[in-house]
Amino acid sequence: MSAVDNKIQGRLALITGASGGIGAACARDLAANSARLALTYSTNKGSLDSVIDELGSKHSDLKLSSHQCDVAKEADLQRLFDEVKHDHGQHPDILVVNAGYGKRVSNILDISLEEWDYTINVNLRSSFIITKLAVPHMLGQHWGRVIYISSIAAGGTSINGCHYSASKAGVQGLSKNLANKMGKSGITFNDVAPAMITGTGMIPTEEDLIGTPGDPKGIPVGRSGRTEECAGVVTMLCRTGYMTGQSILVSGGLK
Ligand SMILES: NC(=O)c1ccc[n+]([C@@H]2O[C@H](COP(=O)([O-])OP(=O)(O)OC[C@H]3O[C@@H](n4cnc5c(N)ncnc54)[C@H](OP(=O)(O)O)[C@@H]3O)[C@@H](O)[C@H]2O)c1
Repeated sequence: MSAVDNKIQGRLALITGASGGIGAACARDLAANSARLALTYSTNKGSLDSVIDELGSKHSDLKLSSHQCDVAKEADLQRLFDEVKHDHGQHPDILVVNAGYGKRVSNILDISLEEWDYTINVNLRSSFIITKLAVPHMLGQHWGRVIYISSIAAGGTSINGCHYSASKAGVQGLSKNLANKMGKSGITFNDVAPAMITGTGMIPTEEDLIGTPGDPKGIPVGRSGRTEECAGVVTMLCRTGYMTGQSILVSGGLK
């Protein structure tokens, strides 16, 4: 039997949207597992700077880099890959496609075409572009992990509208198709589908859920989720090459 390589120590992980709640938690968890990190922010440099300071003081030997990137812009994504190659001498081994956008508008009649297009661009179009940039290096070494942060909304359940659900369902389709077509490539493709994760820009506190369809009273476990609970699943997927094409709900039992 051939050996299986699930080691992530020393691997380079690119995490988009590490200035936000779930992305920063993924950075902490992967750093604790000795992965090197390339982290992005779009507008919130201060948030990513404090994550980098925190990680730098905890893991002084860890190579970390910070990159500005608006994932809605193809040129930014290309520049990001050039910067990562420059700073780390390689493209990422692990890609966490986490940056995402969802302005809460639940009624289709209130969703403008501009809002639809922007949401699809940030959540779905960028996922295609960044995956295409990441795949060649992973193929070349017959090892890669791609993890998309989708949403419970992909299946229809959402405090947000159909634009957001459609963008996240598209991400799940992208992931499952690639998992099938590239099953023997050494690259796995999975998505983590969170719901009601507080401590994030999207849902700062549980108070923000009260009276909404995501009210903690209606969540089977009776509380909102924590960013580190999403991060733990992301790290598990990085360490488990026998899982591909899966969507994992991190939702406290919500369906
Ligand atoms: N919180 C939840 O309950 C929940 C549930 C389902 C899915 N999700 C998904 O989880 C992911 C992370 O969100 P979060 O909950 O951690 O919220 P968050 O704290 O608001 O983080 C969002 C992140 O996405 C980045 N971002 C937004 N627009 C961007 C753009 N155009 N280009 C590049 N980066 C951009 C933000 O960067 P800046 O702040 O630097 O601009 C930030 O780092 C998203 O994909 C979201 O859809 C979250």
